[in-house]
Amino acid sequence: MRILGIETSCDETAAAVVEDGSRIISNVVTSQIDIHARYGGVVPEVASRQHLLTIIPVINQAMTGVSWQDVHGIAVTFGPGLAGSLLVGVNVAKAMALAKDLPISGINHLEAHIYANWLDSSSTARKEVVKFPCLCLIVSGGHSDLILMNGHGQFKKLGRTRDDAAGEAFDKAARILGLGYPGGPAIEQAARLGTPCLSLPRAWLKDSHDFSFSGLKTALWHVVHQGGISVPDAAASFQLAVVDVLVAKTVEAARQLKVEQILLSGGVAANQTLAQRFLADSPLPVLIPPPLLCTDNAAMVAACGYHHFQAGRTSRSDLDVVPSLTLG
Ligand SMILES: Nc1ncnc2c1ncn2[C@@H]1O[C@H](COP(=O)(O)OP(=O)(O)OP(=O)(O)O)[C@@H](O)[C@H]1O
Ligand SMILES: [Mg+2]
Repeated sequence: MRILGIETSCDETAAAVVEDGSRIISNVVTSQIDIHARYGGVVPEVASRQHLLTIIPVINQAMTGVSWQDVHGIAVTFGPGLAGSLLVGVNVAKAMALAKDLPISGINHLEAHIYANWLDSSSTARKEVVKFPCLCLIVSGGHSDLILMNGHGQFKKLGRTRDDAAGEAFDKAARILGLGYPGGPAIEQAARLGTPCLSLPRAWLKDSHDFSFSGLKTALWHVVHQGGISVPDAAASFQLAVVDVLVAKTVEAARQLKVEQILLSGGVAANQTLAQRFLADSPLPVLIPPPLLCTDNAAMVAACGYHHFQAGRTSRSDLDVVPSLTLG
């Protein structure tokens, strides 16, 4: 069963065709990073206009060599995200579904991030099959959610960030250090040249599964403004503080809940220091998508859509965007 996935929730315009929820036939992502970089973050109006310009060429490219007759349905992100950006993807998907007489399924972007773990990729040929119950850590630009997944479509949120999301913290720390946007890759690169010699605070919030990163960001600001510290050392120290908390709290929650596996997803899961620490510290198997499937893409939307269609979960033709949609 082939599904066309469409993703426009933030600043990536993406379309992909995925077979049986795992085999990637095509995966096209155009990023607007260069356009937004000069503003230091995503400008919503600019993002939606850019989606309008690129969405049709991106879908056409994803459909190259694929016959519409082989497409079983269209899966499209309808939230959470920027309203104007989501509207472009949802309306194009609805129009295409009508024109091609295909069913449509509105997909929660956070659920889609988790389903990146079901995708095959040439760099990491699937060794582990996902087993339920599993504990999902979504660490992205807008979220740091710890979610118990008991089966397809069954999610229970255990923890979230109380302030900045993990990716947002990386982006703000990069700005403090005068590194580029997006901050995650810039910090990771700078950290390779430094040592984590600064002692920065970790918010353990031991009575809950929640996270907090704003105190760490403020502490970094104070240290940097006192002067005398190198950018690579500051980047390595900041990265280690985030990694320490994410790994320790997730592994502890997995132990308490007696889950089978830990599933990472979201842009921050592309961070190799985080990935290596999870693999080293977790007694349970940890599944981590390859970096290109951690950040926003439409293959994960199509993979998620496959399970929706399998379960008969389709959306009506009046599907609308829900910018503040949550999961669990
Ligand atoms: N190598 C990396 N290390 C750390 N963080 C990273 C890395 N690569 C990307 N990120 C961070 O991931 C975030 C982008 O991830 P993603 O595309 O999943 O977020 P989003 O879609 O904007 O937010 P959400 O999924 O919550 O709506 C950015 O904050 C970016 O800095
Ligand atoms: Mg995302």
